Amino acid sequence: MRKPLVAGNWKMNGSRSSVAKLLEGIKSGSDEFGAIEVVVCPPYPYISQVESLLDGSPVSWGGQDLSAESSGAFTGEVAASMLLDFGCKYVIVGHSERRSLYAESDQVVAAKYLAALDSGLIPILCVGETLEERESGVTEQVVARQLDAVIDTMGVGVLAKGVVAYEPVWAIGTGVTATPEQAQDVHRFIRSRIAAQDANVAAALQILYGGSMKASNAHELLGKPDIDGGLIGGAALKSEEFLSICKAAAE
Ligand code: 13P
Repeated sequence: MRKPLVAGNWKMNGSRSSVAKLLEGIKSGSDEFGAIEVVVCPPYPYISQVESLLDGSPVSWGGQDLSAESSGAFTGEVAASMLLDFGCKYVIVGHSERRSLYAESDQVVAAKYLAALDSGLIPILCVGETLEERESGVTEQVVARQLDAVIDTMGVGVLAKGVVAYEPVWAIGTGVTATPEQAQDVHRFIRSRIAAQDANVAAALQILYGGSMKASNAHELLGKPDIDGGLIGGAALKSEEFLSICKAAAE
């Protein structure tokens, strides 16, 4: 059985005081996290603060991105080893905002995925189509291409130590959520595509849904057989909202 995973992607939001308040709220409800994995991904400058506030708690933390390089003259970049140095367990890779706003290609995303794996971080690989792509009926091709870029590096086994997040771009930050059926269709497609290469990897893979997931729709989405958790943006910035999603995942 796959363990549900709820990850909060805080994006470029927060301050020392809001981080302290948010984590206090999340920790106050963490007694109920027994059966699920909960992760927060703060902006880089707050990772150290998050480490001191969450150390010893059941909540894990991670980066929102990483460099594919291990060290050197790469101004502004952060290496996997640095994330590990501050206790990160996870790292988001290939978020659609990185792909679209910072021109990260499938190949760059694949290199980052491998850099995360090599260092012992658990990569959360984001895939998903734009509205235009959905309307032109190429959702499955887009998601397949994004997955294959990673699989083609070293084989399907690279997915055994990672997590996949399906995040339809049209649902991110828009308030428009994929219906549970739309999400399940793509999650099923992802799992079956991987199963065609390795049934065990596919069966064990956690596939998260992301895109305007919130307390009011989490239960229905998480009730679908191939949806194993959520990657939460806006709703992860409010502890009550985030805790409600965690509760729905634990049910
Ligand atoms: P929202 O939950 O704000 O739509 O963001 C989803 C997301 O991009 C998580 O990575």
